[in-house]
Amino acid sequence: MAVTCVIGVQWGDEGKGKVVDLLARRSDFVVRFQGGGNAGHTVVVGREKYVLHLIPSGVLHPGVRCVIGNGVVVDPAQFFQEIADLRARGIAIDGGNLHVSERAHLVLPYHKLQDRLAESSRSREKLGTTGRGIGPCYMDKAARVGLRVADLLNPPRFADRLRANVEEKNKLFTAVYGGEALDAAAVLAEYEGHRERMRPFVCDTARLLQEASEAGKELLLEGAQGTLLDVDFGTYPFVTSSHSDAGGVAAGCGLPARRVDRVVGVLKAYTTRVGSGPCPTELKDAQGVDLREKGEEYGATTGRPRRCGWFDLVACRYSVRLNDVDVLAVTKLDVLDHLETLRVAVAYEVRGERTDHFPADVDALEEARPVYRDFAGWRRPIGGIRRRVDLPAAARAYLDFLEESLETPIQLVSVGSERDQTIVEGLPWISGSSGA
Ligand code: IMP
Repeated sequence: MAVTCVIGVQWGDEGKGKVVDLLARRSDFVVRFQGGGNAGHTVVVGREKYVLHLIPSGVLHPGVRCVIGNGVVVDPAQFFQEIADLRARGIAIDGGNLHVSERAHLVLPYHKLQDRLAESSRSREKLGTTGRGIGPCYMDKAARVGLRVADLLNPPRFADRLRANVEEKNKLFTAVYGGEALDAAAVLAEYEGHRERMRPFVCDTARLLQEASEAGKELLLEGAQGTLLDVDFGTYPFVTSSHSDAGGVAAGCGLPARRVDRVVGVLKAYTTRVGSGPCPTELKDAQGVDLREKGEEYGATTGRPRRCGWFDLVACRYSVRLNDVDVLAVTKLDVLDHLETLRVAVAYEVRGERTDHFPADVDALEEARPVYRDFAGWRRPIGGIRRRVDLPAAARAYLDFLEESLETPIQLVSVGSERDQTIVEGLPWISGSSGA
């Protein structure tokens, strides 16, 4: 019994939803520990496609308990909408299988408004946020004016703090942005409507998880976004506002850091990024468009086209080391089926110097020119293959190269969006399970 953490190694959208879904069938708890409704985890089960934003992907498995940890920012309207959508599709959800931390911060309407106003007033360096209020909510958390789930359950405190916050925010909205003021009474009425519906889901989730871990339960921690969007270690300022690497676990769900037994790093067989910011291997030509079309690379939350490019070993080496990844899961290998040649960036050239260092200076990263190594393509469909040894030699060579360069075993390869379109070798806690 163990604690497993699933982390995106790139800029998010690596396919963590599918990997978590596969691992979840052997888990007792599936836990989100950061981010919020900005995430979009897609899971395909037969003909059904589920896109989860706030609720952990484990919810699709009966008997698995899902936890939204204190490090997540919760938009109640979105939370209940997601529950309603899942229930309408036959997924059972109640306070017995979904738990929300009393310490989680609430996303309020003024966060979403602030997100949009701040983004549209940025003349340069637009961040390309998802517009879900994530950044402003974490700003308020750090500024110690945030409202938490525990506050929602304390009516006088909630009303008092909410009115004060709306008054402050309205100064910003009207005087600085020249916009409309929000009506505190309307916001209050809306959130009071959420209170009793929220109550059955709320508990001390840190304690719940600590006790579960002490009792030998299997815990799966589901990262959202990806390491290169981490607020400290990502491509700052083009990042999200939370700790989307394995370092975010303890602060984000209350499980002591030493409890994490293994880290599964999920990476796509090529690179994508949605929103702004440097992406050294991005292909701004027809090749990039081709990857986008073949990989259906459109944001699961915003529908925006993702920027696509070749695999970036410099960036992934940096992430794998940062997360101390134990095993890798490579997704969407089948998207490359048709290519004659594949490229991998093995180094950057930055201001005339060759380097394998992932720079902190965002301008240096913007200027970085990838140094590529080419690989032959396999040019045949691999979606039906279930053993690595049966993959075409060129596909095996590509995986072997990634594995050796990242000094980490690849134990899962996804060759299609369906649950069973997966090669699993060496992940004993899921191989041999019957699947669904
Ligand atoms: P925010 O998280 O909405 O503040 O957006 C900040 C940056 O993170 C933007 O570039 C978003 O496109 C990106 N981002 C946020 N969530 C995701 C995700 O789940 N996948 C990929 N990119 C994301």
